[in-house]
Amino acid sequence: MKQHKGLLFDLDGVLVDTAKYHYIAWKELADELGIPFNKADNERLKGVSRMASFEIILEIGGRTMSQEEKEANCAKKNDIYVSYISKLDQSEILPGVREFLTEAKEKGYKIALGSASKNSPLILDRLQIRDLFDAIVDGTKVSKAKPDPEVFLKGAEELGFSPAECIVFEDAAAGIEAAHNGGMQAVGIGNADILKAADLVIPGFQGIGIEEIEARLK
Ligand code: BG6
Ligand code: MG
Repeated sequence: MKQHKGLLFDLDGVLVDTAKYHYIAWKELADELGIPFNKADNERLKGVSRMASFEIILEIGGRTMSQEEKEANCAKKNDIYVSYISKLDQSEILPGVREFLTEAKEKGYKIALGSASKNSPLILDRLQIRDLFDAIVDGTKVSKAKPDPEVFLKGAEELGFSPAECIVFEDAAAGIEAAHNGGMQAVGIGNADILKAADLVIPGFQGIGIEEIEARLK
C-alpha cells in the first residue's frame, strides 16, 4: 500500500556509480601529497562535501594547510573528477534505477534529488534522467553537510510534503543519519554492515519496485 508520497534520492552511489570516480580522483591527489589513502578511508568521504572530504584526508595524513591551499587542492580534485564524469553515459546508471524511478512516477510518487554534489546537473544530464525529477536539491543549494538533514528537508519542502511522507534512499552512513535527523525513513543501498542504521537495506534497485519497499518498511 502507498504510505508515502515523496522519494528522495542521493546521487553518487545510489543512482550512478560515481563513488568510484570520487575515489580515483581523491586517491590521485592524496598520492601526490604523499598521504596514505585507501578504500576504507574513502567510506568516510561518502556523502560528505568536497571541502569536508579534503579535511578528512588532511587529518589522515596529519597535515594542515591554509584555506587557500585547501581550495586549490579541492579544485584540482574536481578537475580530475570532472574529466571522468564528463564521459559518463547512460550505461552507467546503476541497474534497475531508471525502471524504479519510472514506475514510482507512474504510481504517483514525486521524486527529488538530495545530494551534496555540485556536479549533480552535469551527471543527471549525462545520464539523461533529469526529467524524472520534480525537484533537485544539490550542493549548490545547501550549506550544511549530511548528517545534517538540510538537504532532505529542502527536498521534502520543494516537493510539498512533510518529512514523514518521504522516503530517503542513501548509500552513505552519514546520509542515513541525515534522513533520521530529518524525521524520515531511510532505505540503505549497498552493504548492510555499513548501513546498519537504515530502516531497510537493499543491494540495489534491480528487480525491486516501490510497492515492495513500502511493504518491507512497515
Ligand atoms: C557526495 C559524494 O554525493 O557529493 C561525496 O558522496 C562528494 O563523495 C560530494 O564529496 C560532493 O561532490 P562534488 O561533486 O560537489 O565534489
Ligand atoms: Mg552517495
